[in-house]
Amino acid sequence: MSDINGERLLADLRALATIGGQADGGVDRLAWSEADLAARRWFADRIREAGLEPRVDAVLNVFGHVPGSAAPRLLTGSHLDSVPNGGRLDGAYGAVASLEVLRSMVESGDPLAARVEVVGFADEEGVRFAIGLIGSLALTGALDLEQLREGRDWQGIPIQQVIASAGREVDRMLDAQQHLSSIAAFLELHIEQGPRMEADGVDLAVVTGIVGVYRAQVRVIGRQNHAGTTPFRLRHDAGRAAARAAAGLRELVESIDAEAVANIGSMRFDPGGVNVIPGRAAFTLEIRHLEEAVVRRIAASFKMNLDTICAEEGCRAETEQLSWVPPARMDREQMELLEAACRELDRQPARLSSGAGHDAAILAPHVPTGMLFVPSIGGVSHSPQEATSDEHLVLGARALLRGVRASAARIK
Ligand code: GLV
Ligand code: MN
Ligand code: MN
Repeated sequence: MSDINGERLLADLRALATIGGQADGGVDRLAWSEADLAARRWFADRIREAGLEPRVDAVLNVFGHVPGSAAPRLLTGSHLDSVPNGGRLDGAYGAVASLEVLRSMVESGDPLAARVEVVGFADEEGVRFAIGLIGSLALTGALDLEQLREGRDWQGIPIQQVIASAGREVDRMLDAQQHLSSIAAFLELHIEQGPRMEADGVDLAVVTGIVGVYRAQVRVIGRQNHAGTTPFRLRHDAGRAAARAAAGLRELVESIDAEAVANIGSMRFDPGGVNVIPGRAAFTLEIRHLEEAVVRRIAASFKMNLDTICAEEGCRAETEQLSWVPPARMDREQMELLEAACRELDRQPARLSSGAGHDAAILAPHVPTGMLFVPSIGGVSHSPQEATSDEHLVLGARALLRGVRASAARIK
C-alpha cells in the first residue's frame, strides 16, 4: 500500500494558514467572513486540482469525491472555520488531511478511493451566531432554522443578512440534508486541543465520546444608580450579583462532578460607567460533560445559586438557553478500525474522551462515527499558539489513511 505525501500535507496546511492568517501566527477565519469563504474556495480548488469533483452545499460545506463514483461513501474531514484569533490546526488539520488521504488513494489507483468522500464543514465554532456545528447540523437535518431566521450575529447584524452576503439562504439551508443518505460512516481527524496525550507520551488516540455542550445567556437586572451617593446596603447592583455567581461557578461544578467543566467567557455591565452602579449585567455560560444528567444538574444548581444571590442583592435573573449539543458516543466498530490502523503504524493508541465539541458529535447518532486525535503541544488550542509537531501531523494522516481504507472496505 502506498502512503500519504507528508510534505504535501504540511505545505497545504501552511498555505491554508495564510488565509485569514495573522502576524502572530494564528488565523482569523470566523464563519461566513471573507477569509472563511476564501478558505472554502481554496479547499474546492485543491479538490479539483486532485482530479476530484468538488461540491458546495446549501450551508457552504465543501465536499469532494471521485468523479463518477456512486454513494454510499465513507465521509472524512473536519471544519474550515476558526474562532477569532484562533490557531491554524483546529478543524483545518482534519479537512486537509482527509484531502491528502483521498488524493493519495487516487494517485495509487486504489479502488477504495471511489468509496470515500472528503468534507470541509461550515461554521463549526459557533462564535458568530451563538449556535455552532451548522454544517453538520444541516447535513443531518437537525439545524434549527427558526433561531437563524430571527437571530443576529455577535455584532448585531441579522443572521439572514450575513448568510445572504455569503451567497446562501437561511430557508434553503436544510437542502443539505439530502446528502445524508449517501454517507455510510464518518471519520474525523483532529488535534487533541488539551494536554493529556503530551503528558502521557502517546502519539495517537482514539476518541471514545464527545461531551455534551450547554450554552446559555444570563441576564441580571438590578437598578442603575449613582455610585457615589448610594450606600452599599441600598444598592441593587447587577454587576456585583453577576460577579458573585461567576466567582462561585468553579466550586459549584467541582462539588457536583470532578470531570465536568464550565466557563463564563464574556460578561458585560450596563451602562458601563465608572461612576454608575450597573443596572444590568449579562454573561454567557457554558457547561460540558459526557453525561446529559450531569450537565442538567449543574445548570439547575447554578440557577438556584444565582437566584439566591440575586435575592440578597435586590436583583433578579433570567436565563435563556442558546444551544444544547447532546453528548455522543463513538461507534465501537469504527473505534476498533482506527485502533488497528494505529497499530499498523506500530503505535498503541490511547482511548480518550473529547472535551471539545466536534462535527463528529452531530454525525454520530446518524452514521457510525469515529475520531482520531494527535497531541497538541502544551495542550494549547483556540489560540495562535496552537501547535502540533510535523511528525505527529504526518503520523495522524497516515493513521487516518489506514482507518479510511478499512472502513471504506466494509461498505456494503
Ligand atoms: C469547539 O471547538 C468547541 O469545543 O467549542
Ligand atoms: Mn475543531
Ligand atoms: Mn474549535
